[in-house]
Amino acid sequence: MKGVILAGGTGSRLRPITHTGPKQLVPIANKPVLEYAIDDLVEAGIGEIGIVLGNKGRAEIQEYFGDGSDWGVDITYIVQGAPLGLAHAVGCTRDFVGDDSFVVYLGDDLMREGITELVADFDPAEYAAGIGLQEVDDPSRYGIVDVDDGGDVIQLVEKPDDPPNNLALIGIYVFTPAIFEQIETLDKSWRGEYEITDAIQGLLDDGHRIQSHVVHGWWKDTGKPEDVLHANRLVLDDIKTRINGTVEDEASVTGRLELGEGSVIEEGAVVRGPVSIGERTVIESDTYVGPYTSIGDECEINGAQIESSVVVGESEISADRTIVDSLIGRKATITTNQDKKPDGERLVVGQNSSLEL
Ligand code: DAU
Repeated sequence: MKGVILAGGTGSRLRPITHTGPKQLVPIANKPVLEYAIDDLVEAGIGEIGIVLGNKGRAEIQEYFGDGSDWGVDITYIVQGAPLGLAHAVGCTRDFVGDDSFVVYLGDDLMREGITELVADFDPAEYAAGIGLQEVDDPSRYGIVDVDDGGDVIQLVEKPDDPPNNLALIGIYVFTPAIFEQIETLDKSWRGEYEITDAIQGLLDDGHRIQSHVVHGWWKDTGKPEDVLHANRLVLDDIKTRINGTVEDEASVTGRLELGEGSVIEEGAVVRGPVSIGERTVIESDTYVGPYTSIGDECEINGAQIESSVVVGESEISADRTIVDSLIGRKATITTNQDKKPDGERLVVGQNSSLEL
C-alpha cells in the first residue's frame, strides 16, 4: 500500500508565521509537522510516499525531505498547484497510486497513536474507503460523520452549521481507486473547494460501504497558532530527557529536557521542563525557560522569561520580559525598550520580524 500526504494549501490561518514558508514545516517540539506524518506512515509499514505540494514552500519541503532515504522511504513529489480542495489534491495522485488501496494523511495533522491500527484494520474486499474519526468539541470546524452501530458510515457533511453529532473526520483516510471516479464528478462546495468529504459521500450514494475507525489518543489539526502551541504541549508531555549539548554547572535544570548538539544552557539560567531546545542555541544566564517551550536551532535567548511558547529558530530574544503562549517565527528579533513597564506578553511574531517590547 502506498501513502499520500497532502501538503498543499496556503497556510493563511497561520500567518504571519507562514508568510514565506509552508505551514507543514512549522516545528512542533523541534520537528516539522509533516515529519510526524512521514514517521506514522513508516511505522504503518508504508515504504512509498507521495507528497502533494502547492505553489508555496515547495522548494523548502523538497529540500528538507529529499528522496526520503533519511527516513528509509521513497518520496515522490506531486504538484497540485492552486489549492482547489482535498479531493482535487487526491485526484492529482492517480498515476502515483495506480490500482492498489492507498492511505491519505493530511500534512498538518498530528496523531499521538499513529495510524498503524487504522491501516491494518482496513478491509478493501468489503469497503471502498476507511476513515479515521474522533469526537470533537467544535464540530462545525470539521467534516462530520454519522455511523451505524456496526461502525459503517451512513452520511458525511463538511463543516456543517448544524452538526448532527460531534464525530469528526480527523484527516486520515484509506481509499480504493474507486475514489477517483467520484472525484471526477464533483462540483465545488459552498467554500469553493472540491471536497473529499463529498467524494466519500458519493461512494456511499453509489452503494459502496465506508468503514470507520475511532482513533483514541489525542489528535490535533495545527491550522492556527493556538493549535500549534497546543500540539507542542501535547508532544512535550511525552518527551524523554536527551542531552546532546552542554548544561553548565551553575545552571538550574529540572524536569525533562531535550538539548541538541552544540547548544548551551549557561550558568545562572533556569530551565523547567518539559522543554525542547534544538542545536547550536544558547540560553544565557538570567534567562528562564519554562514548561512546554520549544526553542529551535541557532537561537540566542538572553534575559527573557519564556514559557509555553514555540520559537521556530535563528531568533535573538534579548527582551527582559515574560513571553507566554507565543509563536515566534524564524529569524525574529525581540528586544526591550527600557522606557516601557514590564508586562507579560502573548505574541505571534512573523519570520524576519524585529520587535521591541
Ligand atoms: O483536520 C481535519 C479536517 O481536515 C477534516 O475534518 C475535514 O473534513 C477536511 O476537509 C479538512 O478540513 P480543513 O479545512 O482543516 O483542511 P485544510 O484546508 O486545512 O487542508 C488540510 C491539509 O491538506 C493541509 O495540510 C493542506 C492540504 N491541502 C489543502 C487544500 C485545500 C492540499 O494539499 N490541497 C488543497 O487544495
